Amino acid sequence: MAAKRSHGRSLAGRDVVSIFDLSDAEIESLFALADEMSRQSRTRSDLCADKILASLFYEPSTRTRFSFESAMLRLGGGIISCADVQASSVAKGETLADTVRILHSYADIIVIRHPLEGSAQAAADYSSVPVINAGDGPHEHPTQTLLDLYTIRREKGSIAGASVALVGDLKHGRTAHSLAFGLARFGAKIICIAPAGLEMPAEILERLERDFNLRPEFYHSLADFVSEPNRLAARIKEPVLTAEILKLIDVIYVTRVQKERFKSQKEFEAAKGSYAITSTLLRRARPDTLIMHPLPRVDELAYEVDLDPRAAYFRQASYGLPVRMALLAAVLGKRKTKAQPSPEAAGRTSEVDLTSAGIHCQNPGCITTTEVYLRARFIPVPDKPKRASCHYCGQEMSVSVSRE
Ligand code: NCD
Repeated sequence: MAAKRSHGRSLAGRDVVSIFDLSDAEIESLFALADEMSRQSRTRSDLCADKILASLFYEPSTRTRFSFESAMLRLGGGIISCADVQASSVAKGETLADTVRILHSYADIIVIRHPLEGSAQAAADYSSVPVINAGDGPHEHPTQTLLDLYTIRREKGSIAGASVALVGDLKHGRTAHSLAFGLARFGAKIICIAPAGLEMPAEILERLERDFNLRPEFYHSLADFVSEPNRLAARIKEPVLTAEILKLIDVIYVTRVQKERFKSQKEFEAAKGSYAITSTLLRRARPDTLIMHPLPRVDELAYEVDLDPRAAYFRQASYGLPVRMALLAAVLGKRKTKAQPSPEAAGRTSEVDLTSAGIHCQNPGCITTTEVYLRARFIPVPDKPKRASCHYCGQEMSVSVSRE
């Protein structure tokens, strides 16, 4: 395993695999740096002229990949990438660990997107240069969260106290998973609106409550919101999104049904088209409610909404450039950010290796299922004596872990 070069506690040389790898102070100082970068996002500096970024994308991408590559070019650096990893030695059966150990001798930073959960952590463990997670299956997408939080801060003035509705496939949507934690950390309120079967995973809800004392409100549908008197008249037991509640929402964050993550076509067909943000619906929202979407959209966000001044999604995508310029400059040690240990780093010190006990992560979507050389590493869950979470994908399971 590669020893990471980290310069003290600053962001220089650090991996960004989870949103928890960054402390609140570091995120704030990245935003200040992004404000500065947005003034030079049409020019080319020489800040990172001696640096090379490797982009390793095992899944399709438009915004994330192009904005990372554009950010590196705007900072004067170079990029190496492969249009299709199946055109690399991956097609010959090369492991992730070996691919990364080759790339780290050619590049100063690796940006990875991969369909399996925990892949970015696995890559980081084998890389001597920083690894940035650009999406690991349905697990996390921390840099999208940075630009989502930056959008709210920039367009609404502050994140604290904002009511944010996360709408759509909250089960498989990695942007919603990372964002829920980011919002909780900065004091926002969360409302989850997901079709039945696509709700936010229980583990995320548990952590929101355990670590942030945050219990989101839940609704199954956007379309059938009704007024309170109608709700009482119909004796609807399940919480219903009323027009009154819609008026309290500051940000509607819409996500796509994640077609590629469904186990069966039938399940996908049942979920698809079950919700949509339309101008009719927005007539009942506040005039200053922000409409966000990580994009790409399919049919959950009508084109007519693009003309609405509340539609922020194209601006949101554009903020990806200054935010990623800031992150690259900080991680490559070219700009200083406020130093503060990340919350996740503290938890990782109590990690245990259960390989010799024959224990494996039980998540079928975990990187350990295909990259079988990876050690079975687990982190004890606070206050749950027999539970531990996988070092790679974060999934909790029952194991007897000695906490010595
Ligand atoms: C998202 C992703 O890849 O998770 N896209 C992005 O990075 N902007 C959202 C999605 O694919 O639905």
